[in-house]
Amino acid sequence: TQDDRAYRRLRFPKTSRRLPQAIIIGVRKGGTRALLEMLFLHKSVQKANGEVHFFDRDDNYERGLDWYRRRMPYSFPNQITIEKSPSYFVTPEVPERIKAMNSSIKLLLILRDPVIRAISDYTQLHSNPLANRSSRSFEQLVVKPDGTVNTNYRPVSVSTYHNHVYRWLDVFPREQLFVVNGDRLITNPVSELNRIETFLGLEHRIGADNFYFNRTKGFYCLRYGPVDKCLKETKGRKHPDVRPSVVAKLREHFSQHNQKLYDVLGQDFGWPE
Ligand code: A3P
Repeated sequence: TQDDRAYRRLRFPKTSRRLPQAIIIGVRKGGTRALLEMLFLHKSVQKANGEVHFFDRDDNYERGLDWYRRRMPYSFPNQITIEKSPSYFVTPEVPERIKAMNSSIKLLLILRDPVIRAISDYTQLHSNPLANRSSRSFEQLVVKPDGTVNTNYRPVSVSTYHNHVYRWLDVFPREQLFVVNGDRLITNPVSELNRIETFLGLEHRIGADNFYFNRTKGFYCLRYGPVDKCLKETKGRKHPDVRPSVVAKLREHFSQHNQKLYDVLGQDFGWPE
């Protein structure tokens, strides 16, 4: 109930701020906020507020582990603490830094169809009219004048997942990295969350009762007892209609990269080609 959740936020005897035992490392626009809020349905999970950006920003990292710990919520000894900072996934220094804190930490990476993720990334980058971004179309940014895909465009390079995953697997064993299917978290959150509960060593608590489909939003919303909560409007934005020939070009471009990812992970996401 709401009371239960308020209760969990208070400072109780035997609670303390603990370093996270699990981190959502990315990917940006993969569904990182949905994943963290959904895991927080579990009574054995506490979450950090906002995005902490400890391992990817040198000024924060230099503040040391005590600073990081103080950014964490109070938790009971039987709870696990989770934080999410999506830029960890693409920042080269981060895997070694996390390993230096805790070499047995559990890592969660949520990935989505890379073409849709790139469009989502573009949509976010152009969502703030005050940010003085160019109003160039996705098509203009993603395809070079010679007709090839612009691999230097950030939404494309971030979606080239295998280039980033390699760095994590150089530092951590495969079993410590759980790759969440972000497309499935949208369509069938419970099945995906049950697998994550197992990975995190949690009892299976999150079930169909915790969700209802909101037709207006077009996404599942969360149910904490009698309290319903949808993610903010910035989650589940309307995407521009991208010219089908450009989508096809991107699908063709990503098919070889996706195959490399499936090979390195030993996990096939079946993204459209
Ligand atoms: P879009 O807004 O492009 O649809 P992140 O939190 O990493 O920025 O990811 C945002 C994405 O989370 C959204 O991208 C949306 O597709 C996805 N998402 C997954 N489950 C969701 C949910 N239940 N409600 C809203 N968005 C959800």
